[in-house]
Amino acid sequence: MSRHFLRLRDFSVDELNNLIERAIELKRLRHDGSPHQTCANKTLAMIFELSSTRTRVAFEAGIAQLGGQSIFLSPRDTQLGRGEPIKDTARVLAKMVDIVMIRAKDQATIDEYARHSDIPVINGMSNELHPCQLLADIMTIVESQGEIEGREVAFVGDGYNMCQSFIEASTIFGFDLKVATPLDYRPSAKYVKCSNHVEFMDSPSDAVLNADVVVTDVWSSMGHEEDTHRVKAFDGFQITSNLLDKAKHDAIFLHCLPAHRGEEVDEYVLDDPRSLVWEESGNRLHSQKALMEFLLN
Ligand code: CP
Repeated sequence: MSRHFLRLRDFSVDELNNLIERAIELKRLRHDGSPHQTCANKTLAMIFELSSTRTRVAFEAGIAQLGGQSIFLSPRDTQLGRGEPIKDTARVLAKMVDIVMIRAKDQATIDEYARHSDIPVINGMSNELHPCQLLADIMTIVESQGEIEGREVAFVGDGYNMCQSFIEASTIFGFDLKVATPLDYRPSAKYVKCSNHVEFMDSPSDAVLNADVVVTDVWSSMGHEEDTHRVKAFDGFQITSNLLDKAKHDAIFLHCLPAHRGEEVDEYVLDDPRSLVWEESGNRLHSQKALMEFLLN
C-alpha cells in the first residue's frame, strides 16, 4: 500500500517535522554543491490541469537533482483531455513511473486518482488545498523564527485553498491562526470545524495585530477570474507596509505567488525587508525534494 500526500494530515506531525528538517539539510547540500542523488533512476509523472511555474519547476528540477527524471503531462496533450477516466490513467501510470504529482481543479479528482494508484501520489494543488506550498511556508517560518508551535499567524484575504491549508496546518503544528476575509469569502466550514486554533477577526488590522507571520494570497485564484465582484468585496484587505507595522517587530510576510500588485499586495510590500516571499518560493524546491525522497524511499 503506497503512502500519498494529498493533504497535510496524511502525515503525522513527526513525519512533517522530519521532512522539514530534511528539506533544510537538502537546501544546505545544494548550496554546498554536495551530491544527494537519493532517487536515482526514479521517474516522476506530473499532471497539470491548471497552469504552474513554481510547482512544476520545483518538482522537475527537484527530481533531476535527486538523480531521477520527470514527465510533464497536460490534459491538452494526453488522453485525459479526450475523456480517458482518471482511474484508468492512475492504473496505467503506476505500471510505468514511480511517483505522480497531480494539480487538479477539483480535490475529488486527486482523491480519486490516489484511490486507484499503487504508487505515491502528491497533491500539487486543488480548489481545496495546497499542501506542498504549506511545506515550504512552514519551512520558511522554521528557518526564520526557529519554531512554528505557539506562533501567531494572520491570514488576510480569500478563504480559499491557501487559507484552508493554513487552517489544516494550525491544528497539526499548534499555532494560532487569525483569519480576516470578506464575509462571502470565508473558508469552508468543512475545514474550519476541524481546527480549534482558528479565530475570525473583524478586520485585517485586528488579524495582523501582534502577529509573528502575515500571509495572503490572490483575490482571484485560477478559475475565479470571471468573478467581477471580487475587487469590490476585497476592498480594504490589501497588505501594505502600514498594515505589517501592526504585527510584531520581527514579523515576516509570506505569499505563495504569483502576486497581483495593486490587489492583495501594494507595489512595495513584496520587497519590504519583512517579506520572505522569494526565499519561500525557493523553499518549494527543497521541501518538495524532501517529500519525494520520503515517498520514494
Ligand atoms: N504557489 C504556486 O503553487 O505557484 P504556481 O502556481 O506557479 O505553481
